Amino acid sequence: MKTSAKIIWRDVAYLSVILVLSFLMTTFSVACIAKDYYIFSYYELYLPLTVIVFCILTTLYYYILKFDKHPEESVSLLKKCLICYSIIFIAIIVSAVLYSYFSPSALVISSVTMMVTMLLGKRLGVYSTFVTIGLTLAIFVTCSYVLDIEHFNLDIIGGMLNAMIMCMCIIFFVGREYTRLRLTWGTLLIGLLTTPIAGLYSIFGHGVSAVTIGNAIFGRLVGSMLSVSIFIVFLPLYEAVFAVWTNFKLAEVCSPSQPLLKELREKAPGTYNHCVSVAHLVMSCADAIDLNPYMARACAYFHDVGKMKHPEYFTENQKDGKNPHDDLIPEVSVNMITNHVKDGVTILKEHHMPETVIKAAYEHHGDATVPYFYMKAQSITEDDLDSYQYRYNAQKPTTKYSALVMICDMCEAILRAKPTDDYEQMRAVVSNVISSKLNEGQFNDSNMTVKDFAIITDTICDVIPSVLHKRVDYDKAKERR
Ligand SMILES: [Fe+2]
Ligand SMILES: [Fe+2]
Repeated sequence: MKTSAKIIWRDVAYLSVILVLSFLMTTFSVACIAKDYYIFSYYELYLPLTVIVFCILTTLYYYILKFDKHPEESVSLLKKCLICYSIIFIAIIVSAVLYSYFSPSALVISSVTMMVTMLLGKRLGVYSTFVTIGLTLAIFVTCSYVLDIEHFNLDIIGGMLNAMIMCMCIIFFVGREYTRLRLTWGTLLIGLLTTPIAGLYSIFGHGVSAVTIGNAIFGRLVGSMLSVSIFIVFLPLYEAVFAVWTNFKLAEVCSPSQPLLKELREKAPGTYNHCVSVAHLVMSCADAIDLNPYMARACAYFHDVGKMKHPEYFTENQKDGKNPHDDLIPEVSVNMITNHVKDGVTILKEHHMPETVIKAAYEHHGDATVPYFYMKAQSITEDDLDSYQYRYNAQKPTTKYSALVMICDMCEAILRAKPTDDYEQMRAVVSNVISSKLNEGQFNDSNMTVKDFAIITDTICDVIPSVLHKRVDYDKAKERR
């Protein structure tokens, strides 16, 4: 009962804010569009338009609430609403000013597509675009029709159709390999290629006139350029203010020049190489099971970052056959090993890394036993030891990213220690890793499905030969000759 009352109050609060936003959006837009008229004579427009705008904006709220759920990357409802509504508000206000003082074709709807898609994903990007198109249709077309019924022209429709095609093209391109620069130039190119549509609609509205066609095309070009400018200026601001990890930001954090990765490479080169190899596997698997490969790569790159605190205690960093564990009792060794999880979390928090990456570092061993030191301890005592003392004092994977890092981490380590060219042997190793972790219950909280495990097994077996590839021994080849 208490929960339903809470939900009702939450909905009332959100809808009230949306109503205020609808009123502001409507009055500002009408004031801009009706600048040549006595604005208060059109006061009767405000109420119906505010209601229409409110209804359109409310559909976005319910879409976010009911359909935009990503259990793996949770962005709060408040953050999503603030991001979407503020971006749409900016786009409508800028479009209204351009409509009024420059050209009806110069709409900046594509800025909504680019921003929302980059910040909150493709699906919400598409829906926000449709909402913005709906708002443009309601406010701009209605206003221009009511205010100047005699000279209502089709420029605005042309501009909208043009913006729609542009938005769909952007959505098609976003999600592939891209950089900020490629996306910017790509959007400008799409804008350029779709401008003739604005010219075509100008012909419908005004007949064949070089000046009006030129104006419509120029207006559309300016609209495209301004959309890109809004994207370039506002995206870093939104990334910082709302602490949202876009693929751009995730790519930057995984760059070899990133200070934390540099430190890992210098202090623990073996661990760094292991992380890079795990990242190759994790990225391919993430792609295959529909996770964000950029987020997956960041999780893999930083999962063992805690090892750089005492790198010499981990096999991959040991030189000249020196193993400090030879001089330690198993209980101390286990502590040295398992502490890399806790140390990793501390380091990642200090560097303000994404929550998913911190979780992957904390959960990538789950609460599993360290078998080597448990068996070592058991071999030097006659008593039955409690394996609980030889476990990672951490949490089982709660996200698919953590589970994926756990699987790829183990497979990479085993297959690096015992490389094989035989596909069936490789498959047996991967299947054993997954089934042993399943039997331990490590994936109980991770949302992984049987289908995911099957896809991951196939993908690792396909990718691992290129990760642990062999090279030709040129000396032997010469001898044979
Ligand atoms: Fe680890
Ligand atoms: Fe690892």
